[in-house]
Amino acid sequence: MSQTNTKKQGLSPCRFITSFFGSPFRKTNGSLSNNEKRLPSLKCFSYKEIMNSTNSFHPDNLVGRGGYSEVYRGNLSDGQTIAVKMLAKDNNNANKEKEFLMELGVILHVSHPNTAKLVGCCIENGLYLIFNFTENGTLASALHGKSCESLPWPIRYKIVIGVAKGLHYLHKCCKHRIIHRDIKSSNVLLGPDYEPQITDFGLAKWLPNKWTHHAVIPIEGTFGYLAPEYFMHGIVDEKTDVFAFGVLLLEIVTGRKPVDSSTKNLLLWAMPHMESGDIAKLADPKLEANYDAEQLQRVVLAASYCVRQTSVWRPSMSEVLELLNKGHKSEIARTSIPKFSSDELDDYSMVFGYDIPEDIDLEDYL
Ligand SMILES: Nc1ncnc2c1ncn2[C@@H]1O[C@H](COP(=O)(O)OP(=O)(O)O)[C@@H](O)[C@H]1O
Ligand SMILES: [Mg+2]
Repeated sequence: MSQTNTKKQGLSPCRFITSFFGSPFRKTNGSLSNNEKRLPSLKCFSYKEIMNSTNSFHPDNLVGRGGYSEVYRGNLSDGQTIAVKMLAKDNNNANKEKEFLMELGVILHVSHPNTAKLVGCCIENGLYLIFNFTENGTLASALHGKSCESLPWPIRYKIVIGVAKGLHYLHKCCKHRIIHRDIKSSNVLLGPDYEPQITDFGLAKWLPNKWTHHAVIPIEGTFGYLAPEYFMHGIVDEKTDVFAFGVLLLEIVTGRKPVDSSTKNLLLWAMPHMESGDIAKLADPKLEANYDAEQLQRVVLAASYCVRQTSVWRPSMSEVLELLNKGHKSEIARTSIPKFSSDELDDYSMVFGYDIPEDIDLEDYL
């Protein structure tokens, strides 16, 4: 069953946020059932506090800029380092404000070692979300950044498993299924010891249990990670994230960006090597062949299932975890068709074989 957007219009940001503090979603002592986890307490920051911590939003403290927000590093007086995500001042798109509030609504209800930690928010002089600051940057900067140091295989593998667990938690362990819709390397923060944390829930959707999927307009997300049925028809369900996760796995293995003006589409480039099982050709040359071949083979196998063109052929995140742990011995690898069909390859070329317009700066999309 498909549903269109039923979000109510007209709730002011302030009322929306304060409603969470007293909402039945936020459990207080004594009202928790046995299998419900207590939500962490959320601090309401004053504008002065975040101004002081970021040195008045000094450009030197700007650590990230996304579609509709800026993120600043801040130091609190108790020594804690925070990331302050603010709705861009020049933003005049009401939908973006809604996305920002949606992000707050979702992130308030997630608590897992592999999802970003919200510390609090500020609603004075704009909208601000406050997170724990992650010192190791994002997966995108670690893979494609200016530093010539390559991310060693054991860390890449740890990131693969962590992101898989985080997505499994969002899809399977939350009260309502959460579809992230923008899984990509710049939305994976690298915490202490490079433990990955999924962040940026601005496009996330909650799916009630009785909905199989959701149809959305406009189609938002990131070039190169979009599943064909989403890209073409706006259909969103867990498999939208599974597809993007498959692309992310290939990015981690190859060190290549999902779309790049020289290699065009990563998926089209990688597919013949996945088909032939030639994993050495897929491995990032920067690894200089220093990888665990068995682990690499399982990651490539999982990727090849995740990026199947037809969403029902893609595994659920529980099956992805099994593929990553057991490889060819897993149930799904033994029972479903492992090879890409020729129709599938033709369709991929049609959907992804486009030439990138020369006036598009791909960095804006990654
Ligand atoms: N908690 C954090 N710690 C460190 N850097 C962060 C943190 N959150 C975000 N960033 C940086 O800011 C960028 C944009 O943040 P994100 O939440 O993805 O916003 P957007 O929705 O605008 O893409 C990230 O890619 C990352 O570089
Ligand atoms: Mg982002």
